[in-house]
Amino acid sequence: MSTHTNHEQAGEEAGVPTAGIQDIAFATGHYSFDLKNLADQHEIDVNKFYVGIGQETMSIPASDEDIVTMGAAAAQRIIERNGTEGIRTLLFATESGIDQSKSAGVYVHGLLKLPREIRTIETKMACYGAIGALQMALGLVARNPKEKVLVIAADVARYDIDTSGEPTQGAAAVAFLVQASPDILAIESSQGVYTSDVQDFWRPNFRNTALVDGKFSVGAYMDALVGAWHDYRDHDGVDFDEIDWFCYHQPFTKMAVKAHMRLTREAGVPLDKPEAAQALEPTFGYNKQLGNSYSASIFLGFLALLDSETDLEGQRVGFFSYGSGAVAEFFTGIIQPGYRKHLRAQEHQAILDARVPIGYDRYRVLHPGTLVQPLDNYRTERETQGPFRFEGVSEGSRLYR
Ligand code: COA
Repeated sequence: MSTHTNHEQAGEEAGVPTAGIQDIAFATGHYSFDLKNLADQHEIDVNKFYVGIGQETMSIPASDEDIVTMGAAAAQRIIERNGTEGIRTLLFATESGIDQSKSAGVYVHGLLKLPREIRTIETKMACYGAIGALQMALGLVARNPKEKVLVIAADVARYDIDTSGEPTQGAAAVAFLVQASPDILAIESSQGVYTSDVQDFWRPNFRNTALVDGKFSVGAYMDALVGAWHDYRDHDGVDFDEIDWFCYHQPFTKMAVKAHMRLTREAGVPLDKPEAAQALEPTFGYNKQLGNSYSASIFLGFLALLDSETDLEGQRVGFFSYGSGAVAEFFTGIIQPGYRKHLRAQEHQAILDARVPIGYDRYRVLHPGTLVQPLDNYRTERETQGPFRFEGVSEGSRLYR
């Protein structure tokens, strides 16, 4: 493993301070659903899920939870530790939007009683949206290093019952603070970007569940990885062997293994499946338990790596984000000296442990079905133990407490 100084590439040589992640935390839904329940229901070997796709349980939100309650719970931890001073922008990235017009971030702003002097918007591009938000945040901080940006990535991944995507559902939110001279991760300036108009996964406005061509989406992910990697290398990106760790978007953790095999082949240092799985193992812990959380998933991979036993000081992490449809990006960051003092590993484990396990029947009741119901008035039952509740809808307005 190499150790990199925190100013390589990050702009300090040009007199610009580094920028990146100062603090990062996650939240999830109230329930957990072991994929053994799904395997039993379908009378198949559970190792198709545990081993074949690399997923063990999925988080399921209670009926009084959604992206706003999870996003607010994650962001509350960031605000409690860092305060609100300097935060002038709140970016909320999601695929699971709850309104066609108003940003979910504005509801979070209200729940957390944030100062009025903040701009708040929502970003969307399937699972990529939060990386777009991160790059916007870095741009704002580069323009004015006194400013901070609160970014929230929150999603509920839902596929139809009895489809191939069903075992890859999940739910979580990650919140992080972007600022100058960060204590956890300084993000380097080189980026490899990629867009291709493909129909591998999409969700029309009238649907709760995504439509997906699963096998095609795996291929589209690979094409995007190769495209983004070469663009990264063409834009002053470092050599493959200068990157110590890789965090991929993990729709299911096995996807990252396939991707890493592909990237190592592309870089001329091919790893076989066990070697690729071993190299990425520290990034899998949270996603295996939470399931897919779309825009939050790549950050949960990063959090699992940070919260692991490994000492990462001075090491370079490569990030690959893929949003079906498709937009992708490859970039890197350097883990900062003393980063461990800023982590929340025990808090994160407690969040996972606090979830209430449910069986197949309850899972079916909580699954919203394919089509959005046009209900202007309804109340949700009190279920969540989290700090925020979605109370229901009154004359078309969503109510949060
Ligand atoms: N023990 C161990 N492994 C097993 C197994 C068992 N009993 N049964 C099957 N497997 C393995 C298969 O060999 C396969 O491995 P491979 O991918 O290395 O070849 C893996 O489990 C998956 O099996 P497969 O039959 O291909 O699964 P599937 O057709 O049901 O669906 C996806 C796989 C990814 C297409 C599906 O989960 C999906 O649609 N996901 C949503 C879309 C998505 O996340 N796309 C990713 C890009 S964004």
